[in-house]
Amino acid sequence: MVMSDVKLEDIVSLAKRRGFIYPGSEIYGGLSGTWDYGPLGVALKRNIMQLWWKMFVEDADDMYGVDAAILMNQKVWQASGHTKTFTDPMVECMNCHSNFRADKIDVSAPCPTCGQKNQFSEPERFNMMFKTVVGPKYFSVEPEKDEILDLEKLGEVGFKDRKTGAPSTHWNIQDQFEELSGFMFYDKQSLSYLRPETAQGIFTNFKNVVDSFYPDIPFGIAQQGKAFRNEISPRDFVFRSREFEQMEIEYFVHQDEWEAAFEMWISRVHEWCRALGLPDDMVHELEVPAEDRAHYSKRTVDFEFDFPIGREELLGLAYRTDFDLMNIQKASGKSMEYRPKDGGEPFVPHVIEPSFGVERAIMAVLTAAYTEDEVNGEKRTYLKLPAHLAPVKVAVSPLLKNKPELVEKAREVYRMLKKEFGAVMWDDNGNIGKRYRRQDEIGTPYCVVIDFDTLEGDSKDTVTVRDRDTTKQQRISIASLAKSLHFLS
Ligand code: GAP
Repeated sequence: MVMSDVKLEDIVSLAKRRGFIYPGSEIYGGLSGTWDYGPLGVALKRNIMQLWWKMFVEDADDMYGVDAAILMNQKVWQASGHTKTFTDPMVECMNCHSNFRADKIDVSAPCPTCGQKNQFSEPERFNMMFKTVVGPKYFSVEPEKDEILDLEKLGEVGFKDRKTGAPSTHWNIQDQFEELSGFMFYDKQSLSYLRPETAQGIFTNFKNVVDSFYPDIPFGIAQQGKAFRNEISPRDFVFRSREFEQMEIEYFVHQDEWEAAFEMWISRVHEWCRALGLPDDMVHELEVPAEDRAHYSKRTVDFEFDFPIGREELLGLAYRTDFDLMNIQKASGKSMEYRPKDGGEPFVPHVIEPSFGVERAIMAVLTAAYTEDEVNGEKRTYLKLPAHLAPVKVAVSPLLKNKPELVEKAREVYRMLKKEFGAVMWDDNGNIGKRYRRQDEIGTPYCVVIDFDTLEGDSKDTVTVRDRDTTKQQRISIASLAKSLHFLS
């Protein structure tokens, strides 16, 4: 297993301390597999997502963006196969009842939670979709003390007409309801799921986009948004979360063109990794063998990254054939055929799918950027973030915060830079050394300091600009400051 030199605990600790990422619901003891983004985390995340949208949607001629609803008709997930096959193998330790993914644990070794040996159950398939009920179409039944509920008899116990109080025959428990948890039942027709991938919201809008725009083929539809998976064992910071964000493209091609399109997407994915500042030698292609591929894929390349937890999947590229559009055509009865503009035979397009996870991109960016060095004999930690991803582009400080004339001039410079770059921070906490350390740790490329030389003398109307990576300082005139830093925008 190849590992980055950076330790996961250093990244987790910096992320928490400096306001990037906090454990979800922390104040109530947390909720496993969920994370909250703080002020700097949300800025980093948006910068990554905006970069992706610009690179793959705005700057492309053949791409259409959509933003589909998270809640979708249950038929989407039946047609796509998710209700049956979106499962992971699960084992339970029969001693402490912890659950584990059977393919991620050595079942001949002691249980990682309680240390007991030979305690694991046989693997069973666990469906990872979160169920939910749309509309007030469920009810709960409270059993009497010590009563064991007999589902056969529930119809007699539970259902009364709301108006008259008379027993209702409207609801038939056997046909219409299923148990959700404990004594909670829902109407089967109103069952829905929190989407486990954004891809299906693209496929279900294929016909809409074709009807509205009649694009030349090949073309792609892109979507960003939340996805939810009830992971058996979420782990490794945000790497395997229960709620996360995806950025996906379904690229529609004629069947004969899929191989060329797949190769084109391999090189586009590498361009993306470079735009994130990931060194080429930390990104690896893994040709996924047939037995490990998802049921819909005829070729998959996983792009792996040297994370602190080892070499693991950063994003995936799959040839999904016509699997999804054919399933939708069958289930909906609507044609998914594309009519070539040259009058050729209509056909159901095949699909190349690059699928990017935002959380894993963030973890890779933080790993690649995390740097330790020594400045004036002192250990320093800094994030060598590419300027276009940095949450704060410039920090502006008065040398001393108790000198009104310095503060006034610094405020003027701050307002000017903020107008130009947006993500500019006012920082007058602690002494100047502490401010530099803090800004280094959050990856701010430049610190601008207003000192007494700014106010008078030969260097009047100039400021000190300090570079994060070299720690070198130079004096730049206020008049040319925005122009000198223009590459930040
Ligand atoms: N539409 C195809 C699809 O969803 P996937 O390999 O299951 O494929 C794509 O997921 C990407 O989504 C992964 O490469 C990863 O970046 C991200 N991802 C998947 N599950 C995740 C999880 N539990 N936590 C964080 N990111 C996840």
